[in-house]
Amino acid sequence: MNVTFRQLRVFEAVAQELSFTRAADTLHITQPAVSMQIKQLEGAVGLPLFEQVGKKTYLTEAGRELHTYNRRVIQLLEEADDVIQAMKGIQRGRLRVSVASTANQFASRLLASFVHRHPGVSFSLDVTNREALLNQLAHNDCDLAIMGKPPDDEDLQSEAFLQNPLVMIGPRNHPLSKEKNIPVERLADACFVVRESGSGTRSAAERFFAEREVNFSPGIEMTSNEAIKQAVEAGLGLAVVSIHTLELELETKRLAILDVEGFPIERHWYLVHRCGKRLTPVGTAFREYVLAEAKHYASVPNPG
Ligand code: PGA
Repeated sequence: MNVTFRQLRVFEAVAQELSFTRAADTLHITQPAVSMQIKQLEGAVGLPLFEQVGKKTYLTEAGRELHTYNRRVIQLLEEADDVIQAMKGIQRGRLRVSVASTANQFASRLLASFVHRHPGVSFSLDVTNREALLNQLAHNDCDLAIMGKPPDDEDLQSEAFLQNPLVMIGPRNHPLSKEKNIPVERLADACFVVRESGSGTRSAAERFFAEREVNFSPGIEMTSNEAIKQAVEAGLGLAVVSIHTLELELETKRLAILDVEGFPIERHWYLVHRCGKRLTPVGTAFREYVLAEAKHYASVPNPG
């Protein structure tokens, strides 16, 4: 059936009003224009849709059948329109955020408070390491990422929004925990518990030692910051971690931050998205929220 949406709209108006003149008024078009659209629709359907008895207009049987379906088509289109309109605002819509595992603690709190303000929005949060985040951005699998400084890439737009100091930690009673300005050379033979390769924290630590030409020997490798902290506490080695992963451990004094020369390693958190990507209103609102509010959700604990 080769019909146009305009014909269906006109048909709906005539079927409701049962008058070509009133339908024309409702649609703000002329009565001959209404008659023309209905004539074309009847031609496409192959049956008359209205009949005239005396001065009154009635739907034929074919007209009644078509009217039932037509209502459903129009309702569905109105529903689709509602959803699209809502997506233009920030009440509805979808946002895919991916964050570096190291940023997980504060990023989850930040996202939770944003979600409370926009309950109609559906969010997905993926927590993974730097390498995987860069892959997701390249394949358009996330709208926004929170991560360490991305590589210079003209396809990525990034904004720094928060400091991310990396510190060296040891067990609470480690012999170096009382010393000040420990020369990094003294750590050349230390055993380190490290994140998997692909982690931004790990590559920053490796870079730090390489720049100073000091041996850095990754010992045990672990994929989670939580596991690393427990391993350090248990005496399996030292580690370089973001201070944002240490809130609880420093409060309860379960770990010590070692005062090593050159530490903390200065890093920042960046909000990153593809340059070509047009952020939806929800994406834009989240971006603004992160830039303005992140500092309140990522308290940097006092290392002392
Ligand atoms: P990571 O990321 O969780 O992969 O170590 C943190 C960073 O890039 O600094």
